[in-house]
Amino acid sequence: MTVSLHLPQGAQRLLNAPVTHLIGGVHVASESGATFPTINPSTTDVLAQVADGTAEDVDLAVAAARRAIAGPWKDLTPGERSKILWRIADLIEQHAEDFAVLEALDTGKSVTMARLVDVPLVVEWFRYFAGWPTKLVGESIPVTAPASPGKYLAYTCREPVGVVGAIIAWNFPLLLVSWKLAPALAAGNTVVLKPAEQTPLTAALFGQLIQEAGIPDGVVNIVQGTGESVGAALVAHPGVDKISFTGSTEVGKLIVHASADNLKKVTLELGGKSPNIIFADADLEAAIPGAANAIFFNQGEACTAASRLFVHADVYDQVVAGIAKIARHIKIGDSLDPDALIGPVVSSEQLDRVLGYLKAAEEEGARVVAGGGRHGDTGYFVEPTILVDTRPGMKVVDEEIFGPVLTVQRFETTEEVIEAANDTSYGLAAGIWTQDLSLAHKVAAELRAGSVWVNSYNVLDPALPFGGYKQSGWGREHGAAVFDSYTETKTVVVPHQ
Ligand code: NAI
Ligand code: MG
Repeated sequence: MTVSLHLPQGAQRLLNAPVTHLIGGVHVASESGATFPTINPSTTDVLAQVADGTAEDVDLAVAAARRAIAGPWKDLTPGERSKILWRIADLIEQHAEDFAVLEALDTGKSVTMARLVDVPLVVEWFRYFAGWPTKLVGESIPVTAPASPGKYLAYTCREPVGVVGAIIAWNFPLLLVSWKLAPALAAGNTVVLKPAEQTPLTAALFGQLIQEAGIPDGVVNIVQGTGESVGAALVAHPGVDKISFTGSTEVGKLIVHASADNLKKVTLELGGKSPNIIFADADLEAAIPGAANAIFFNQGEACTAASRLFVHADVYDQVVAGIAKIARHIKIGDSLDPDALIGPVVSSEQLDRVLGYLKAAEEEGARVVAGGGRHGDTGYFVEPTILVDTRPGMKVVDEEIFGPVLTVQRFETTEEVIEAANDTSYGLAAGIWTQDLSLAHKVAAELRAGSVWVNSYNVLDPALPFGGYKQSGWGREHGAAVFDSYTETKTVVVPHQ
């Protein structure tokens, strides 16, 4: 451990020892004894050594999760499950500073953002889902049963799917833990969680708190390690009933293939190339900073990042100049600098990937109006970048970059911009900026995207369904909709009289 900063006690304690798995309520090293380092992308220092899991560790974790689902977890009342979820929220709130600092160190995101966005959202997610165990009701359904005449009482009930394998990405590590675990646990499932290998720390701290919250042993298991080893073993495991995945579209497709053997249920929250449309009548004082924030938030490492900006010709110059000015002035810095709003991207791989896209943009004839390269020479910092003269067919327009890079295109007509906005294999989110209410609703209806924000962006709430059209995913997370994929519906039919 090479960090010599003064860290909050809980964060420091976590970094003082090798990070372990949590299997059956016990914090353990890998069966193989292997570890891997996790890096601070602001400095490239090693933060901690982490247990490097294999299929053996996954086997143990799945076995623990299977035992727990038949055991203590099943015997708790819905009200008792509620209380545990609420206590998890309280504990995260009490340790908010530890979580915010660890998240900033591990991901590179600004600690200010982690404090204001990530951690409060996680608390809210557990509180919201704490209300659900007592509300997962079935129905009684009148039936005719023409081929089996008689009178019947028929009803449905919702049961847990079983053991959920949750595989998550590195851009919002703790928030994604809450997106998977809060609904899975509310519905009575047990979980084997695989954090991203780039960002194992906050899940590890979470694993230490849940026992205090009253989660019985084996209900939540955490296996650290790579996708190729731990992730793939989880997806292939016959003892796993459902996989809930957040990550790249490429790996999403691998998961669909690999899950075929036991036809486990799969939900996928994948990438995006989300359009943001500024009409001529938009309130530009809101739209300009709104569009800048929609791409640069979290260094552009967000599945919803509004990476394709479409601006009406009448306001094009003004909007581009306004966003370029913001891009040039956003403070970039070490993730623990409270004044920095943009930190480094997560890893050297991600830095290379983003810089590769910037090189391709140059070769394909895009013009840089702000940023355009690496920032500094230590750490994995990328300048907030705005590219104009961009068009479909360019890599930067067609592919998800997952960095602070915005492409801008000019439009004249509503029909033209709707077609251009939908001209993508993705469909996660979209933004519309206009003061014309009818136009906003018309365009919202035409966009092929799971979330459409009007005169706003990235308004996320545990009550609002979230997920992708097209290659942005399968299924919806959050709200009542998430339970479609975390419960099985059982129909019971009883003759009466
Ligand atoms: P990734 O999709 O490889 O990683 C996400 C998770 O999947 C990690 O936990 C990883 O260990 C796991 N994984 C990898 N291969 C697996 C396999 N064969 N079976 C099971 N699990 C596996 O994403 P990566 O490589 O870190 O990032 C690459 C690109 O993916 C980014 O540049 C970005 O474009 C996109 N991405 C999108 C995210 C989103 O929120 N939609 C999140 C992270 C990345
Ligand atoms: Mg790291």
